[in-house]
Amino acid sequence: MKSKICDMLGVQHPIMQGGIQWLATPEFCAAVSNAGGLGTLNSSLFSSKTELLEGIAKVRSLTDKPFAVNISMLPVQVAGEKVGEYLEACAEARVAVVELAGRDPKPFVPILHEAGVKVIHKSTAVRFAKKAEAAGCDAVSIVGFEAGGHPGMDDVATMVLIPSVVDALSIPVIAGGGICDSRSYLAARALGAEGVVMGTRFVATAECPIHENFKQYFVACDERSTAMVQRSIKNASRDIKNNTIKELMALESSSDHPLTLEEILPFTNGKRQKNAYESGDVEDGAIPAGECIGRIHSVMTVQEVIDEIVCGAEAILKEMTVG
Ligand SMILES: Cc1cc2nc3c(=O)[nH]c(=O)nc-3n(C[C@H](O)[C@H](O)[C@H](O)COP(=O)(O)O)c2cc1C
Repeated sequence: MKSKICDMLGVQHPIMQGGIQWLATPEFCAAVSNAGGLGTLNSSLFSSKTELLEGIAKVRSLTDKPFAVNISMLPVQVAGEKVGEYLEACAEARVAVVELAGRDPKPFVPILHEAGVKVIHKSTAVRFAKKAEAAGCDAVSIVGFEAGGHPGMDDVATMVLIPSVVDALSIPVIAGGGICDSRSYLAARALGAEGVVMGTRFVATAECPIHENFKQYFVACDERSTAMVQRSIKNASRDIKNNTIKELMALESSSDHPLTLEEILPFTNGKRQKNAYESGDVEDGAIPAGECIGRIHSVMTVQEVIDEIVCGAEAILKEMTVG
């Protein structure tokens, strides 16, 4: 099932794997691109321009299909000077697509466009999406309240956010937050999105480089298994409601002041998260996941996920048309 964005991105299906910290490795990114979607490599895996260039070369050794590089610019995730190095690497390697997130993209678009790189900006609100369009971005990915990771501070659900952004913009919109299968994919397309971006569904796949315990945990979760934390530092995040997040929630609600970054970091720091992914301790660390975790009922291969979306959506459309 094609859309206009397939030609822009050079992909078979308008299904994008979003940035996934620690897990969006060259191998995983290539698996998604080889399955006909747009795989994404996380720049945050690499500590320098040279390392990122090596990572990009690794993806290219595994697939001849286009892929994206995610550059998340939230200050707690990446220091300012790293962003410059990542941008230089993407421009030099002339990657097909860069997905930016977390900051106004305006200063970063020219260097990428000069190198022929398409720029998608991940936004969480109509006003930010409009800024991305004004900055010259080629498309926006927009995530609603259901999304895993950082869905913004407005708590607007995907069902309302997507058509609002589609109506406000003339560039293509890629919808995320709660999309995990053919039904939600088709709903997003019906709301006007040219494509979808998924994070949570891709974690519970055979190829995802996370400990098997997490994949089984994702399958066992229901739609109430995630929670929003970190609002006090205006960096709201949706994570699985494990023991670490329950502790943080208890502290947030009992504290006599809004928690500071220093107070939150012991729970959410990336090192703890990475260790948990490797050890398989599902109760340790802040583990991003969206509400659609409750709609994941088995661990599938990336190809199976994409095939179910494409074939299932066509079947639903046929059924709806026939009546
Ligand atoms: C485990 C996990 C890690 C994520 N890490 C990042 C990241 O490093 N950078 C980013 O821009 N988004 C990140 N996200 C957000 C996804 O790219 C995507 O926007 C989001 O998952 C879409 O909503 P969904 O979870 O309902 O599919 C992450 C999401 C998950 C589930």
